[in-house]
Amino acid sequence: VSARLPRIGDDDFYDAELHRLRPHLRAAAAVRPGDRVLDIGCGTGQTARDAARDAPGGHVAGVDRSAPMLRRARRLTRRAGLRSVRYVHADAQRHRFPPGRFDVALSRFGVMFFADPPAAFANVARALRPGARLALMVWQAPEHNAWVAAFRGALAPGATPSAAGGAFSLADPAVTRPLLAGAGFSGITFTDVREPVYYGPDRDAAVGAVLSLREPRDLLAAQDGRAARRAGRRLRDLLAAHETPGGVFLDARSWIVTATLGPPA
Ligand SMILES: C[S@@+](CC[C@H](N)C(=O)[O-])C[C@H]1O[C@@H](n2cnc3c(N)ncnc32)[C@H](O)[C@@H]1O
Repeated sequence: VSARLPRIGDDDFYDAELHRLRPHLRAAAAVRPGDRVLDIGCGTGQTARDAARDAPGGHVAGVDRSAPMLRRARRLTRRAGLRSVRYVHADAQRHRFPPGRFDVALSRFGVMFFADPPAAFANVARALRPGARLALMVWQAPEHNAWVAAFRGALAPGATPSAAGGAFSLADPAVTRPLLAGAGFSGITFTDVREPVYYGPDRDAAVGAVLSLREPRDLLAAQDGRAARRAGRRLRDLLAAHETPGGVFLDARSWIVTATLGPPA
């Protein structure tokens, strides 16, 4: 299936899905030559590779708890010829990073899943030098992210929404700000990023892309033949309604959260 998923250049589907968001995090992280960078929940590593390109003479550590993601990350990084990226298979919440090691910590949608967020951000803070920068991309609330409700609405209207937790756990600045402050960060800012997510060049590609995602696939699999066919048609109609000459896009909103480790200057 993955070979048929929408891609942009050599990017994986997830990278293609987020391609309109990519420059926002890269600009916010403002990685510079020589920087030592920590990418938290780096997945298959696109943001770690971006950081490596922005930090000649520096060093990037991507940490993720998923071995298959890191296998893919290592392969893509070798293919890109980037030698300054190292991947660490660990839980970022508890891994013992070298203290004070990094100048920048960044993450694209990799910091919302900690079992104990205060402990996790305190652990990240210990890995940073005083004055180090933090740049995170996190989803805003589900009601600002059309893709969340749209797929569920098309595939299983009336189904109980799955627990919001997880992906949206840092959507509320009133939660995220004290969490980061408690870990020792200051100068915490939230920037509203309104960029849509991409599902492919046309409605047919987009149907395949959406059904490669776990929740939509499970919603469809839970239905019998006729109901499943109707649900499939509703999904296709939904995606057709979002088809543009540039491809199929659904509205999305995320935050870029930036902060500095230590007391305000
Ligand atoms: C939505 S994916 C984002 C991946 C990547 N940042 C990207 O944008 O391509 C979330 C990632 O965070 C990782 N993750 C979640 N909790 C983690 C933890 N406690 N420690 C390390 N990685 C974690 C997952 O394994 C997954 O790869």
